Amino acid sequence: MVRKSFTLTIMKTILVTGGAGFIGSHTSLLLLKKGFNLIILDSFLNSNPKVIERISELSGIKNVQKRIELIKGDIRDQKLLERIFDFAKINNNPIDAVIHFAGLKSVSDSLENPFDYWEVNVLGTIKLLQVMEKNNCFTIIFSSSATIYGVPKDLPLKEISDINPVNTYGETKAAIEKIFRDVSKVKSKKWRMITLRYFNPVGAHPTGKMGEDPLIEPNNLFPYISQVAIGRKEKLRIFGNNWPTFDGTCIRDYIHIMDLAESHIASLEFLLKSSSLLLNLNIGTGIGRSVLEIVKTFEKVNNLVIPYSFVERREGDIAVNYADNKKALSFLNWRPIYTLEDMCRDSWKWQKMNPNGYK
Ligand code: NAD
Ligand code: UD1
Repeated sequence: MVRKSFTLTIMKTILVTGGAGFIGSHTSLLLLKKGFNLIILDSFLNSNPKVIERISELSGIKNVQKRIELIKGDIRDQKLLERIFDFAKINNNPIDAVIHFAGLKSVSDSLENPFDYWEVNVLGTIKLLQVMEKNNCFTIIFSSSATIYGVPKDLPLKEISDINPVNTYGETKAAIEKIFRDVSKVKSKKWRMITLRYFNPVGAHPTGKMGEDPLIEPNNLFPYISQVAIGRKEKLRIFGNNWPTFDGTCIRDYIHIMDLAESHIASLEFLLKSSSLLLNLNIGTGIGRSVLEIVKTFEKVNNLVIPYSFVERREGDIAVNYADNKKALSFLNWRPIYTLEDMCRDSWKWQKMNPNGYK
C-alpha cells in the first residue's frame, strides 16, 4: 500500500499598513497570490478603498474576500492596533509579520507641516512596534527611502553611504531607521527587520487596472508626464537644464512598481526563515536615467508628444542619484526585471484606462 503524505499548509497572516496606497496595493496583490492572508489597515488619506476590488479581481482567487480584512483607521491609534492583533488571534490567524507602508511622503508638504510628519511617520511607527512587541510579533518590513542619503558624496549610493537627509520627510525616515537599530539590539527580543530604501517607484500593473491614484496632488515626474499626456496639464516643466549631467537634466534610478512589490515578497520570505537581524537594503535598478531620457522614452513607446519647457531648478533637488543594489541582490531572491520602456508603457496604460483613477 502506498501511503500518501499530506503537508498541512498553514497560511500566514500579514498586517499591511497603508495597503491601499500605491506601493501597498501592488504588494498586497502579490502577497495574496503567494498565499498569505491579509489585514490591511489604511486611513484612506491618500488612497481609495475601491482599490481592494481591483486587488481581488487581479488576484484571480475565488472567494479572495475571505482572505482580506480591510480596516479603516489610523496608524497612530494604538488601541485600534491592539484590537487588530487581538482580533487576528481570536480568529486563529495571529499576525505573523507586518509590512509597514502607512505614512506621509511629500517633501514639500513635510516642510510646511513638520508635526504631521513626525507624528504619523515616527510616532505611528513607534506605536506599531510597541503593539507588535506586546503580541510577540517581531517580523517587520519598513518603507524607507533613498531620500535619507541627501546629497550623495559618492555614487552609486551604498547602504553604508552617509545618511544626511535634507528635508523633514527624509529626517523622519532616517529617525525611524535609527529606532529600528535600537530596537533590533534588544537581546531578549528576536526582531527580524528589513528597511527597504526605495529609489523612484513608477509604472503600474501591466494590465492597467492598478496604478498610482494619489488624492494629494503629486509633484513627481511620472504622474506629471501622464497628466500632460492625457491633456490635464498643458506641459511638463523640466526643473533645470544646466545640471552637471550628460544632457543637463537630473538623473534618477526609476524602478517599476511590480519589481518594487516583488522586493517585499522576497524580503518577507527571507525574514520568515531568518533568525533575528536588521537589514537595510537599497531597492533600485542601479541604472540612472535623465529627465529628458524619460520624456523621450515615454513619447516613443506610447507614440505621443509631451510638450515641455525648461524652468528654474526645483529647490532641494540633486543632480544625480542611483542605487548600488548589490546587497539586495545578494540577500534576497530578487532582481528587477522591468525596463524603462515597461515603466513608461504601463504608466500610460493605467492613466489612459483610468483617467479619474479609481473614482
Ligand atoms: P501612498 O500615499 O500611496 O500610500 C500610503 C498609504 O498610507 C495611503 O493609502 C494612505 O492613505 C495611508 N496613510 C497615510 N497616513 C496614514 C495614517 N496615519 N494611518 C493609516 N494609513 C495612513 O504612498 P506610497 O507611494 O504607496 O508609499 C508607501 C510608503 O513608501 C510610504 O511610507 C512612503 O513614504 C514610502 N516611500 C514611497 C516612495 C514613492 O516614491 N512612492 C519612495 C520612497 C518611500
Ligand atoms: C522626490 C523627493 C524624494 C522622494 C521621491 C519619491 C524631492 C526633492 N524629492 O524625489 O524625497 O523620496 O520624490 O518618489 O521632492 N521633475 C521635473 N518636472 C516635474 C517633476 C519632476 O523636471 O514636474 C524632475 C525632478 O527635478 C527630478 C526628477 O524629475 O530631477 C524626478 O523627480 P521626482 O519624481 O519628484 O522624484 P525625486 O526628486 O527623485
